[in-house]
Amino acid sequence: MSATDNVMDKLVSLCKRRGFVFQSSEIYGGLGSVWDYGPLGVELKKNIKDRWWRAMVHARDDIEGLDAAILMHPRVWEASGHVAGFTDPLVDCRTCKSRFRADQIQSASCPRKPSKHPGEHTECDLTEPRLFNLMFKTFMGPVEEQAAVIYLRPETAQGIYVNYLNVLQASRQKVPFGIAQIGKAFRNEITPGNFIFRTREFEQMEMQFFVKPGTDSEWFERWREWRMAWHVELGLTPARLRWHPHGADELAHYAKAAYDIEYEFPFGWNEIEGVHNRTDFDLKRHQESSGKKLEYFDQAANERYLPYIVETSAGADRVTLTVLADAYREEQVEGETRVVLGLAPAIAPIKVAVLPLMKKEGMPDVADRIYRDVRGHMNAFYDDSGAIGRRYRRQDEAGTPFCVTVDADTLSDGTVTIRERDSMQQVRIAATQVPEWLRERIWGAPGS
Ligand code: GAP
Repeated sequence: MSATDNVMDKLVSLCKRRGFVFQSSEIYGGLGSVWDYGPLGVELKKNIKDRWWRAMVHARDDIEGLDAAILMHPRVWEASGHVAGFTDPLVDCRTCKSRFRADQIQSASCPRKPSKHPGEHTECDLTEPRLFNLMFKTFMGPVEEQAAVIYLRPETAQGIYVNYLNVLQASRQKVPFGIAQIGKAFRNEITPGNFIFRTREFEQMEMQFFVKPGTDSEWFERWREWRMAWHVELGLTPARLRWHPHGADELAHYAKAAYDIEYEFPFGWNEIEGVHNRTDFDLKRHQESSGKKLEYFDQAANERYLPYIVETSAGADRVTLTVLADAYREEQVEGETRVVLGLAPAIAPIKVAVLPLMKKEGMPDVADRIYRDVRGHMNAFYDDSGAIGRRYRRQDEAGTPFCVTVDADTLSDGTVTIRERDSMQQVRIAATQVPEWLRERIWGAPGS
């Protein structure tokens, strides 16, 4: 086993043990590359999505939110190019019935003889490469026929394009402006893997910014800068982030320019977000296909044009994995291994654990009162079972930044200790000050 597998295996195991992420339908043997978020995972992912929404929609005057349906008119996917072009070239083995991406044969192994690549074992019988569409198909209505075929969206972006005029008119925005959306997307990936990195059902956080042609390159650069800054503010290690510009051979059919933000995972550098200059490709295609004029009328300049689009597209699950991988560490403390998730306090699933030192002398009652008080301000957890050291370790693994401990002094002078996860330092403050003290350290502003 390589060191890389080791870190990922430890992370996957921690995620299951602590309730971040579970394999989908595990009691039936699991469903390939589909994952469920447990109590801590759902909080973490929600905190990431909320931060994105806050930065993209609430903190700006020029971006509106949208929540379009997953199911869309099938012609959307013809116009977007997905029916014809959202494909991977695949090769089947007639002997073992396995399927491989034609462009990844040299990194795949033959299921019958793993030391060889597909096609190299004497029994391999490979087909010619065939194009395989990655969209999930289903039927709408009671009749399962070609006319009723409908797709689960493979990206949220198209829901924004087809609604762009609705949003523009309803919000009275003017170009340049953007539309942001968070929602599920589905891709029948042939080589999914690396836990929640590449899955078949995932969530995207996408924003489409509509600009006047000619100003697109400027906006593209601005959005590159803002999106990288967002990941750094999320707490990711800057040295593990970099840009990957798409070369001509990598550019998607719709893009004039594209840059990926990449993160250095235990399994190597990989994309976490794309920033794309999509030109007027999408609006032009939808205008032609629907027959509806999608031009913007600029009253001040008295001119009409199809806006260009700068897209920022991040995966919520992928960013969640990034945050987990970046936060995971093991330390030696007094001869024992301490596993810590050093999550930024603002995105940690549990902000504070309240712990009575002992289950006697009224400590649980006092701790319970503090827990109820603090719970009104943030997600908190109460734990009175086991030795205090073990309780701290459980919270370290869950990424909880602070533990409040009620001890004998609390009963006499009303103070508690607060232990900080990363430094393990403890401070003593009045119990009544706990919510404000925590808020300041988690969100940076007392009373915010
Ligand atoms: N609308 C443009 C678009 O969808 P993309 O590069 O295909 O572009 C954007 O996807 C982001 O969505 C990726 O950077 C990644 O974070 C996330 N993503 C894409 N496919 C994914 C998958 N199979 N599993 C998890 N996340 C995925």
